[in-house]
Formats: sequence, structure tokens, C-alpha cells
Amino acid sequence: MIGPALVGFLIFQWPLSSYLANVSLQPQDCQKSSLKTLSCWNQNLSSIPADLNPRLRQLDLSNNVITEIGVVSLRFLQNLDISQNELHVIHEGAFKNLVELHTLTLGRNFLSHNSIDNSKSFLHLYRLNTLDLSLNNLDEKDVEFYLRNASYLEYLSLSGNVLTKLTPGIFTRSQNLRSIIAENNFISEIEQGTFESLTRLAELNLARNNLGSICDFKLSQLKKLNLSRNALQFFITQKTENIFQLEMLDLSYNNLLLFPLLPNRNNLKYLNLKNNKVGVLENQLPFLETLFSYHKISNLYDSGLESVENIYSALKETPLVDLDLSENQFSSFPMEICSYLVSLKSLNLSGNCLMNISDAEIKNYAQEGQPQQSCPSLKSLDLQNNQISYFSPDFLKALPKIEELILKKNYVKPCSYRNQTGESTSIQTNLVDDSHCVSFRRLRTLKYLDLKENGIKLLSPCTFEHTPLVTLDLDGNEEMILEKGALDGLQNTLQSLSLGRNRMTSLDLSVKCLKTLKKLNVADNYLDVLPEVIACSPLKELDLRNNNFTDLEESVIRKVSIYLNTIYISGNFFNCCSAVWVKFLSESNVKIPDLKNTLCFIKQNVSIFPDFISSDSLSKQCSLEVSTEVGITNLVNIILFVFCFTFTLMIVFIVIRCALNSSLPFRNNKVVSFQSGNDNQCSGGVAKISIFETVK
Ligand SMILES: *[C@@H]1O[C@H](CO)[C@@H](O)[C@H](O)[C@H]1NC(C)=O
Ligand SMILES: *[C@@H]1O[C@H](CO)[C@@H](O)[C@H](O)[C@H]1NC(C)=O
Ligand SMILES: *[C@@H]1O[C@H](CO)[C@@H](O)[C@H](O)[C@H]1NC(C)=O
Ligand SMILES: *[C@@H]1O[C@H](CO)[C@@H](O)[C@H](O)[C@H]1NC(C)=O
Ligand SMILES: *[C@@H]1O[C@H](CO)[C@@H](O)[C@H](O)[C@H]1NC(C)=O
Ligand SMILES: *[C@@H]1O[C@H](CO)[C@@H](O)[C@H](O)[C@H]1NC(C)=O
Ligand SMILES: *[C@@H]1O[C@H](CO)[C@@H](O)[C@H](O)[C@H]1NC(C)=O
Ligand SMILES: *[C@@H]1O[C@H](CO)[C@@H](O)[C@H](O)[C@H]1NC(C)=O
Ligand SMILES: *[C@@H]1O[C@H](CO)[C@@H](O)[C@H](O)[C@H]1NC(C)=O
Repeated sequence: MIGPALVGFLIFQWPLSSYLANVSLQPQDCQKSSLKTLSCWNQNLSSIPADLNPRLRQLDLSNNVITEIGVVSLRFLQNLDISQNELHVIHEGAFKNLVELHTLTLGRNFLSHNSIDNSKSFLHLYRLNTLDLSLNNLDEKDVEFYLRNASYLEYLSLSGNVLTKLTPGIFTRSQNLRSIIAENNFISEIEQGTFESLTRLAELNLARNNLGSICDFKLSQLKKLNLSRNALQFFITQKTENIFQLEMLDLSYNNLLLFPLLPNRNNLKYLNLKNNKVGVLENQLPFLETLFSYHKISNLYDSGLESVENIYSALKETPLVDLDLSENQFSSFPMEICSYLVSLKSLNLSGNCLMNISDAEIKNYAQEGQPQQSCPSLKSLDLQNNQISYFSPDFLKALPKIEELILKKNYVKPCSYRNQTGESTSIQTNLVDDSHCVSFRRLRTLKYLDLKENGIKLLSPCTFEHTPLVTLDLDGNEEMILEKGALDGLQNTLQSLSLGRNRMTSLDLSVKCLKTLKKLNVADNYLDVLPEVIACSPLKELDLRNNNFTDLEESVIRKVSIYLNTIYISGNFFNCCSAVWVKFLSESNVKIPDLKNTLCFIKQNVSIFPDFISSDSLSKQCSLEVSTEVGITNLVNIILFVFCFTFTLMIVFIVIRCALNSSLPFRNNKVVSFQSGNDNQCSGGVAKISIFETVK
């Protein structure tokens, strides 16, 4: 694997011909993107083609079957890629003409063969800036040979080789190195002095090796250090007043039992401790002595380490912003760590063993006279996948800037709101259990709250009042009852609401209007009616998948479609023929990404919507149904018309007769009874009556 920096660099260097002009050149199947760039990628070439343009700057010969390189005479070549070949012989003078070459990519070859002879050709490459020797089965001796004269080298990849021990000899001639990627080897030992003298080294990737501990971290020049997926039990920095440049430290997937002992003065912004065993000993004081004497390393850390405070006090100056402690073994919230890290914005404690976060826990630390009893800058806290059922109100008070709280997969129950007389405003009093509940009211900074899968049974009125939530996720709380007014207080802030997988049979948001709601997810329930109230929200996305809808109320859909971008409807069983709303949605340019997977039925027959919209036979089936209905009503109309017409004629006839008789014996006789039996089809009759009255 080539590290990100190197990849970035290579991509920058090689705008490959594939997305540029396609002009054939020698040899036949190579592609040149400009006069100076040629790609012969994957052409079954067994040697470097002859007759290449001598002015070439870039040449890509990757993915061929080249085994041997003789003298290359491309004097202006800057960039050469021979990766993924079968290279095992490089002639001594092969590179001697390549005085401009700065990037050489030789990954996936057999350069461990003949390394002593092959490496002689590398002596000429002292101007090289970037070298990729990944996946060549190289051991440390081979690498030492290849780097004998690489004095300008800055970027080196050695990943996927068989290095076991790094010694100072390997890099002594490459004092300009800025980035070394030695990921995915078998390195279990690094001799003192290997990296110390490389003063420009900023990035070191030793992920996926066998390192057991870092007992004396001294590389103050490093900015990025990746030690992920080793077997580290300790990471220790001796006390020193040196300023460390370190900004990113990845220690994920190791066996650390303790928080790393970081240099006193550092620049660390990002620390990843995911998947270690930190926290397991937190509650077993005095654990440090036990541990340190057991591993006989306490002499490395000269000052006393009798208490937790001493470890963490080193964090005081750490400008850490992002700390990942997920998948560790904390059973109580590490308030002391959080307190020292005054810049910390994001803390991930998911997948630990946290249970209750009690007042006592928080206050204890306050009494120890620490600088803070809060996590002053924390904005995002991920506590998912623990066993939290309760935390004290003081805990949330200790997070004065909290914006995002992820509590997915815990046992948290939101408290019901009690009014001045202390009575719960909930009607479902049998479900109210305020002994273990958490109040989400009046959290003035909170915007994102994830309460998925907490076994919540009841949301009582005003649960989130005075908390300006933008996103609320309540998925997977089966059979949760949303009481009238449960979402009151969120009308002007809530933009995304998720109520999926809740076994709901009806949805009554019982709120006047969520004026800012843009996204609503009610997938995987048993809903069959769209609540009218959503029509007043500026919804952009609506997820109705896997419910019991047979129809969507057209009036609601018409209103919703004004803002709607996307609607998901599959997993329902719609009536094809009454689905005018589908046509309406497509005409309004609303996206229905899963339309082609959506079933609908015509009487007993099952179809899918796109067929319904496009195919003639299906629409005929529907129109047949409709046209017979129309036929019947027409028939009724005709009969009524004939009836009215005859009746009118009769009246006219009578009127004429009466006029002739100069008497008016009728005022509202049969006419009135006709009017009462009147329906719209008979308005012709009414008109006649009014004529009759004016005549009168
Ligand atoms: C590029 O050139 C090759 C070989 O001449 C040809 O087969 C291919 O169709 C060309 N592609 C384009 C996009 O012109
Ligand atoms: C690759 O080239 C060799 C000879 O150089 C030939 O025998 C082989 O069939 C070629 N393979 C392909 C896939 O063209
Ligand atoms: C080794 O590098 C030096 C410059 O650092 C250069 O002068 C010398 O010629 C190189 N050796 C060979 C054999 O090219
Ligand atoms: C460290 O290396 C691991 C393993 O290759 C990788 O998954 C991870 O993203 C790297 N960490 C950083 C911060 O780049
Ligand atoms: C926290 O860590 C878990 C597990 O490592 C991960 O799935 C989750 O996305 C992380 N949370 C955040 C907010 O990054
Ligand atoms: C958690 O807190 C509740 C209420 O304060 C208490 O009843 C319960 O025993 C606590 N559980 C644990 C494991 O401390
Ligand atoms: C408190 O709520 C209860 C139940 O809803 C109600 O009966 C009572 O009148 C309320 N008291 C006050 C002071 O609002
Ligand atoms: C919802 O539909 C399923 C299958 O289509 C059916 O078994 C279930 O009884 C329906 N539920 C309700 C509440 O209508
Ligand atoms: C169902 O579909 C079949 C084949 O398309 C058709 O012959 C049949 O008349 C349809 N039945 C109904 C009730 O529409």
C-alpha cells in the first residue's frame, strides 16, 4: 500500500493519458497524452519499448511483464512507473542517463532478488525525490542497499515488505526524508537512533507491524505518527522539556492498558485510541505501581507516578481536539481526562462499559482541586453502545458547549415534564418512570440528539422543550408512544426527524406545525395514513418505505410536493389505479429512487409502478375499471336528462295553457317537490323554473 501523501503526490505527477487525448504512438498500443507523456499500461510488454520519444518526461509501464531493465536513455525523464511487473534484473548503468528523474515507482516486483547487484543502478539516482519500493519482499539489508546514495530522497514507501528490525544504518544516507511509510511489515524492533537524526521527517507510518511497546518516544520532529494495528501495551515519553511537533497519533487497534504518556509539550490535535484496553484498570488503584513493576519500566519514568493525576497532568498543555476512545473498557466516564483537555471538541466513548454517570463521580473530581470540573470545549460526545440508563443533570451541565450527543444503543429514558405542582403532564401515568430518567429539557446548546434503540416506551409532552434540536433520531424504540405535545418546543428548530422501526400503526405528531422540518423518516412501521400535519412543513426528503400504505392522500402530496426533492415509497402495497399521486410526483420532478422496486395491485393482480405508468395494457386495465364506472354515471345522467326534459316540456305546455286560460292556479306545487328531489344534473330544470317565475 502506498500512503496517502505518496499517492497524492503520484496522482499529481501523473495525469494519466486515459483521460486526455487518445493519440497512438510507438509502440502501437501505448497512449500519449502530450508529446512528453506516454502510458503503456497493461500492454503485455516484456521490456521497455525501443524508439521512445527521447524528450519524454513521464512514462508509465505499469502492469506489464518486464523482467529486466537495460540502459534507459531518456535524458529528460522525470517520472517513471514500472510497478506491477516481474522486474528482478536492473543493469548497473540502467539509470545513469536519467539525470532528471525525481519519481520512481517500482512497487510489486521482485527486487529482493539480486538486491546487491540491482542496487548498484540506484547509486545514480541520488537526485530522486520519491521512491516506491512497496511489495518487493525486501528485508532491511535489501533496503539499505537500495538507499545507499539516495541523499535527496523525501518520500519513501516500503510498505508490504518483510522488514523485521529497523536500524540507523538504513536511513543514514537519506537525511532529507520527510515521509516514510513502512506499513504492513513484521517490524518488532526499532533501534535507538534510527529516526532521530532525520530532522525533516514529518510523517511516519508503522501501522500493521509487530511493535510491542514504545518505551521512550523521542521523535520530536514528527507531525504524524501511525502505529495502528501493532501489539502495543505502552506508549511512554520520558519527561523532557523538548517541544514535540506531533499533531496526529494513531494508536488504534493495540493492547494499551493505559492512556499513552505523551510528551509534556506537544502539538497534538488528533489522538486515536480506538480498540485498546484503556480503562480496564481505572478502578483498581494503585494500579500503576503494579503495572509498572510488573513490566519493570518504571525506571524510565523517573518521577513518582502514584496517582492517576500524574499521568493525566501531562495532558494539561495538550491542544487535543479529537479523541477517540471507542471500544475500550471504561466503566465510568473519564471526567479527569476531559477536564484537562481544554480544547477537546470531539470525544468518542462508544463501545465501552459505561453504566450510570452519577453525581458522585462528577463531584469527586471537582473536590480534588483540579482546574476544571467540566469538558469546557466539548461539542460532540459519542456514547453509543454502552449500558447507560441514567446520568445526573450535573453531567450535562459539565458539558457547557455540547452540540451533538449520541446515545444510540443504551437504556436512556427521557423524563416526563413536571409542572409547578410537580405533577407529570403525561396521560400515560402507568408508563411514567422518573426514577431512572434523563431530562432533555433546557439543554440550550444541544442540536443533534440520537436516541436510537434505547427501549423508550413513552415520549410525554414537552420532552425537549427549550432544547433547540435540529436533528432528532428516535429509530428502533419499538412501540414507543408519542403523546400529544411530545415534540412541542421543537417547531422552530427541528429539521430532521427519524421515527423508523418503531412498530407504529399510526402517526400523530400531535404538534401544530414543524415549521422547519426538511427530512422525515418513518420507514419500517405499519402506517397506512399520511398525517395531514406534514403538509405544512417544507419537507425535502420523506422516507415511507416498508409500511402499510395503499394510497397516499393526494391533497397532502400536492402540498408536500412544493418543496419535496426525494421520496422513498417501496415496501408498500399501493393501489395502482388510484395512484394519481405517483404521476403527480413525477410531474413535479420529485425523485422516487425506488419507484422501480415498488409494487402496486390492480384487483388481484400485482404489478410494479413503472409498468403501470408506462405500459398500455396496464393503464387499460385501470381505465376499463374507470370507464365502466363512467359509463354507469353517464347512463344515470341521460335518464335524468330525458326525465327533466320531458317534465319541462310538460310545464311549458301547462303554462301556455294557463296563460291561455288567464288564470294562475299553480304557485309551488309539483315544481317544489321536483326541486327537493333535484340534484345537479337537474339544474336545467331549475333554470326553467326561474324563467317561469319571471314570466309570472
Ligand atoms: C483510443 O485508442 C485505441 C487504440 O487506437 C482505440 O481502440 C480506442 O477506441 C480509442 N479510444 C477513444 C476514446 O478514442
Ligand atoms: C503476451 O506476450 C507473450 C509473448 O511475448 C505471448 O506469448 C502471450 O500470449 C501474450 N499474452 C497476451 C494476453 O496477449
Ligand atoms: C552518489 O551521490 C553523489 C551525490 O550525493 C554523487 O556525486 C555520486 O556521483 C553518486 N554516486 C554514483 C555512483 O553515481
Ligand atoms: C493509520 O493506518 C491505518 C492502517 O493502514 C489506517 O487505517 C488509518 O487510517 C491510518 N490513520 C490515519 C490517521 O491516517
Ligand atoms: C465513534 O466510534 C465508533 C466505533 O469506532 C464509530 O462507529 C463512530 O462512527 C464514531 N463516532 C463518531 C461521531 O465519529
Ligand atoms: C443506576 O442508577 C439508578 C438510579 O439512580 C440505580 O437505581 C441503579 O442501581 C444504578 N445502577 C448501577 C449499575 O449503578
Ligand atoms: C399540572 O399538571 C396536571 C396534570 O396535567 C394538572 O392537573 C395540574 O393542573 C397542573 N398544575 C399546574 C399548576 O399547572
Ligand atoms: C400491515 O401489513 C402486513 C402485511 O402486509 C399485515 O400483516 C399487517 O396486519 C398490517 N398491519 C396493520 C396494522 O394494518
Ligand atoms: C391479471 O393479469 C392477467 C395477465 O396479465 C390477465 O389475463 C387478467 O385478466 C388479470 N386479472 C385481473 C383481475 O385484472
